[in-house]
Amino acid sequence: MKHLLSAGDLSRDEALAILDTAERMHAVQTREVKKLPPLRGRTIVNLFFEDSTRTRSSFEIAGKWLSADVINVSAEGSSVSKGESLRDTVLTVAAMGVDALVVRHNASGAVARIAGWVDCHVINAGDGTHEHPTQALLDAYTLRSRLGDLTDRHVAIVGDITHSRVARSNVLLLATLGARVTLVAPPTLMPSGVHSWPCDVSWDLDDVLSGKASGDVDAVMMLRVQRERMSGGYFPTEREYAISYGLSPERLDLLGADAPVLHPGPMNRGLEISSVAADSARSMVLEQVQAGVSVRMAVLYRLLSGADEVTV
Ligand code: NCD
Repeated sequence: MKHLLSAGDLSRDEALAILDTAERMHAVQTREVKKLPPLRGRTIVNLFFEDSTRTRSSFEIAGKWLSADVINVSAEGSSVSKGESLRDTVLTVAAMGVDALVVRHNASGAVARIAGWVDCHVINAGDGTHEHPTQALLDAYTLRSRLGDLTDRHVAIVGDITHSRVARSNVLLLATLGARVTLVAPPTLMPSGVHSWPCDVSWDLDDVLSGKASGDVDAVMMLRVQRERMSGGYFPTEREYAISYGLSPERLDLLGADAPVLHPGPMNRGLEISSVAADSARSMVLEQVQAGVSVRMAVLYRLLSGADEVTV
């Protein structure tokens, strides 16, 4: 595998191999000296044209723990703000002798275009409303740590599906791993064409969480309402959205006793998720962040070292 552009590009064996490698990498996180040698002398550039806290810093930490040199370039403060084209910026950075580019961009498809321009490895860290494959991998890692094998497990993904690259990547990866997904959103936030996706669709959150709509739910993933990508009114008021689609304390009680709650972050507390749900014992939000480092170490390791077996 040269690039990681889409969760849909991963076969079941490849996805499981990354998750298994991530488990090995996780052990490093608990050590006092968090450093392994395999990417010594390799250079990774985080090229972020969109805001990020956890994705960028976890790619940076992951690269550094594998002994790579990691450089961060963001649109603000770079030549992009002087009018340079995307292609020229990318070719300039790549010309410095970079081994991998980790790219986030607000245009869907931009990262795949970039992969066609350069010789180095390219990892999609989120392109517009399209895909965010390492988020799906870290979500699968987190779900697996709580539920075990994901075959036939049922995951509800709730919220702003239209603008969510996390939802699309998760649907593809969870289907590859044999899990069942139900997407829940108001009709205005459900993308057109969703009926061709490998999942079920519902507009009624209470029916889904209580198991009435499509059987017992093993885990629920809440998505952020992506106001920065909305051009018009997708729902009447925030209060109305929270009442119909927010994970309130009452809705939490509809879930089976062991069902975990996930959210990719950043969270809008009081809108898609109540503080009671976000801070409950079911919440795996911080486990997801932890898993992010292990999974990104696994992806960088497997792409850059070309090794299938972990020898660290
Ligand atoms: C997600 C993203 O950027 O797509 N966040 C993340 O990577 N942790 C989801 C979001 O912004 O809502």
